[in-house]
Formats: sequence, structure tokens, C-alpha cells
Amino acid sequence: MPSVVKGLDLMPGKVAKIGTFSEWVGMFNDWRKEIGVERDEIASFKFDTLYGAIETEEIQFGHFKGRRKWENLRQIPTQQMRDALLNMIVYQGDTEFASCEQQRHLFETAPTDWDRRAITRVMIEEMRHGWQMCALLMDHFGYSGKVEAQKMLERRAFENQRLLGAFNVDVDNWMDFFTYTDFVDRDGKFQLQMLKYSGFAPLGRSMSYMLREEAFHMGTGNDGLRRIVQAGVIPAWLIQKYLNKWISSSYDLFGTDHSSSAHWAYVWGIKGRYDEPKNQGEADLDDLNDYNRHLYRDEVAGLIDRLNNVLKPGEPKLYAPDIKFNRFIGRWAGQKFHAQTGEPLDDKAYEEHLKEYMPSAADKKLLLDIIGTEKKWIAPKEGARDPFETIAEPRKSAINL
Ligand SMILES: [Fe+2]
Ligand SMILES: [Fe+2]
Repeated sequence: MPSVVKGLDLMPGKVAKIGTFSEWVGMFNDWRKEIGVERDEIASFKFDTLYGAIETEEIQFGHFKGRRKWENLRQIPTQQMRDALLNMIVYQGDTEFASCEQQRHLFETAPTDWDRRAITRVMIEEMRHGWQMCALLMDHFGYSGKVEAQKMLERRAFENQRLLGAFNVDVDNWMDFFTYTDFVDRDGKFQLQMLKYSGFAPLGRSMSYMLREEAFHMGTGNDGLRRIVQAGVIPAWLIQKYLNKWISSSYDLFGTDHSSSAHWAYVWGIKGRYDEPKNQGEADLDDLNDYNRHLYRDEVAGLIDRLNNVLKPGEPKLYAPDIKFNRFIGRWAGQKFHAQTGEPLDDKAYEEHLKEYMPSAADKKLLLDIIGTEKKWIAPKEGARDPFETIAEPRKSAINL
């Protein structure tokens, strides 16, 4: 089989400082303090590893379809498959810790007390997701699992060390936060859903609780944007720029086109399509990432349509940016397209276009001015229960079996 797994820079010389999971927990406690998020609710939260039910014990796609799912690494047929699986878990875990680092400065500026409690809950749950991935690494992947679980807490988003570009960008105001949780966390949902079908059963079982928790993040983001649009204080053109920024980088998160690692992850039964196993059609192995990316875009476009229902009359309609706009990964990377129409633009036109369609320093200043001076920039949160009251409640609608 070809060598397809992107090197994770396993650093063979790296010595694990931790031998047991409780030693990892010690590192995790230090990490929270170091990045500055150790609020009372977080310090007192009891983190744990949660496994839910999976739909079937049988592998549902790929070369091993119909065989029993693997419970441990010894049952996985080849080292390349084990490496691909490790890679997948590391990337997932990395995004979880990264998002806490990205959002670490937002507590003080929360628009309401409800929002402050919501972001605290979002952060707790992202930490739990990172914890869950590290528990898998430490329980199943021997020495390299320990090294990777440790490195997960050593990289920093704000030092540009996280593994994926979108996770090194600061989320530094509440427009960013709501857009991020609506759309970047939604990419997270897509990834989790694809891993839920994994032939590695402990990974699949990790996903149902994570998906339920993810639903709260997306709901917070989507409702936050609804409240902003409804308030009608921040102009729609400015909101659109933030949609363009985060949604285009979410498109990138689905990975390259014609990806051989996606191809083999599917053949090996490690990661399914987003609509697996509902999708009875044969998978196009050469086009998996882009297939899932388009499903994501469809979902996002539907949500934005709903936001338009509460838009002030006369404001320009909001939209999901074209799939080709502002891409750094895949077949459209580095090319120049119009955010709304997808038309190709020449260098000069594109330079102007970016000023009009992506947030600039002046836009950010305007946004912060509005947020700082206009009390009613966001509609109040009404009728919602306290985020901590519902933190452990099953959210069936998010399971998406
Ligand atoms: Fe998460
Ligand atoms: Fe999330």
C-alpha cells in the first residue's frame, strides 16, 4: 500500500514526560491556568471520558465492510492504518484545545451574563473533547499516544502552532465568537459525524456525547447571529464580512481535493462520508473531502436564509460565500473569485474585492465602536435556560443517526 499518511512530525527523540492518565490530567490543569481560562466554573467542573452507543458493531463501509469493528489496536490489520487513525485523533483533539486558546479573552466582554455562562460552557465542553481524544491516545496508542497527548497541550494557537490554519486565528470579539461557533463548530460537527462511523469502535463511541455537546455550541452561535441581525444595529454588509471570513476558512477545513489520506481513511473504514450510511451510492474515493464540503455548504446556506427572515427591511440579503472564495486549500487555493457570485477576478479587481468583502482593520474598529457604544447591538437572550442547568442533558436532536 502506498505511504499516504501525512507525517505528524512524531519526533522520535521526544521523551514523554507523562506515563499515566492522571499525570496527563496534571498537565491539563496547568494548561488551563497557563492560557488564562481557569474560571471558578471551569476549575470546579468534573471532567470525564464518556462513551455512548454506536449504531452497529459492524464496519459499514470500505474494504472491511461487514467485519466486526475493532476494539483495540492489535485487531487493526496494518501499521499504516493504525498511524492514519492516530493522525485523525490528534487532529481532532488539537482543534478542541485550540478553540479554547482562540476564545480565551472573551469572558470580560460578554454581552450578557447568559452569554458569559454560555461561552464558559462551550469552553468546558471543548476541553472535555480534547480530554476524550487524549484518553483514546493514552489508552490505545502506547508510547506514541502518550507523546501525542502531551504535545496536544504544548502547542499554542496564539503562537501559530496548532495543526490547522483556522485554529491559529484569534477569535477576538463577540461577532467573531458567534460566527465561529455557528460555522467552525459546525465543521466540527461534520468531522465528528464522519468519525462516528469509524471502524475503530472506541472512537465511534466517543462521538455521540461530543455531538450532543457540539449542538449547544452551534445553537449559541446561530442564535447569537440571529440576535445581532434582529437588533439591526450592525449593518448587514459588516456582518457579511464576518460570514465570509469564517465560512471560507471552514471550507478549507474539509481538506484538499483528491486527497489520498481521505481516500485511504475511507477504504480502511476509519472515517466515513458525512451522510454515511444513509447514502446508498458508491463513494467517489477521489472526491470525498469536496463531497462533504458541499454538504456543509448546503447546510450553512439554509441557516443563513433563516437569518434573512429577521433582517431589517432594505438591508442586503446575507449569503454563504461561494465555495471558491478565499480558499487556501484544495483546487481553488490562491485563486481569485468573487465572494458572492464566484466569478473569476483579475489581480487588481480582487485586491479591491477583498477590501469590500473581508473584514479589514477599519471594519474591526467600526465593529468594536458599535459594540462599545450601542447597548442594543444585540437583541436580549429570551426564555433560555441557564447553560449550566442543561450542561449534561441529552440533546437528542443533535445525534443525527
Ligand atoms: Fe468540540
Ligand atoms: Fe464546539
